[in-house]
Amino acid sequence: MGKATQDLRKEHEAILHVLNILDKMMDSENRDTDSLLKYYGEVVYFLRIFADKCHHGKEENYLFKEMLAQGIPNEGGPIGAMLQEHAQGRAHIAQMSQSLEAKDLVGFQNAAKQYRDLLRGHIAKENFVLFMIADQVIDEESQEQMFEDFELFEETVVGHGVHEELHAMIDTWAEAFGMG
Ligand SMILES: [Fe+2]
Ligand SMILES: [Fe+2]
Repeated sequence: MGKATQDLRKEHEAILHVLNILDKMMDSENRDTDSLLKYYGEVVYFLRIFADKCHHGKEENYLFKEMLAQGIPNEGGPIGAMLQEHAQGRAHIAQMSQSLEAKDLVGFQNAAKQYRDLLRGHIAKENFVLFMIADQVIDEESQEQMFEDFELFEETVVGHGVHEELHAMIDTWAEAFGMG
C-alpha cells in the first residue's frame, strides 16, 4: 500500500467514526433541541473542514490528478464518478447547514442521512476499488512525493491548530454519546 493512499485510508477511518457518532446523535433521546443543534453544528463544521476541504481536497488536487496522468479515465470512468459524489456530498452539507439555521431538526436529519449513506458507499468504493487501482499505477516514489504534498496542503488549508481542535471535538462527542 502506498504512503499517500494509506494516509487517505486513515482519514476514511476518522470520517466513518464521525458518521457512527452522528448516528448516535440522531438516535439520542432526552436531549434538548439547543444542545442537539450545537452538536450538529460542530459535526457540519468537521465535515466541511476535514472531510471536504482537507480530505476531498487532497484527492481532487493530487491523487485524482496523478491517476488521470497515468491514464485512468475521468468522465464516464471511476474518477468522474468520485468527483460527482464529492459534489453531491457538498450539496448535502449545504442542506444540513441550512436546516440548522432554520432550527429544522427533521430537515437536518433527512439531509444528514443522505450524506451518511452517500459517504459510506463512497469510501467503500475508494478503499476497495479506486485506491487499489491507484496503488497499481502510482509508484512508491510518487506516493512519497504526494504524501509530502498532502502534509503541506493540510498545513496550508486547514492549519495545525484547527486539526487539533477537530480531533478534540471528536473525543468530546465520543464521550458524550458513549462511543469512546
Ligand atoms: Fe473521495
Ligand atoms: Fe476519500
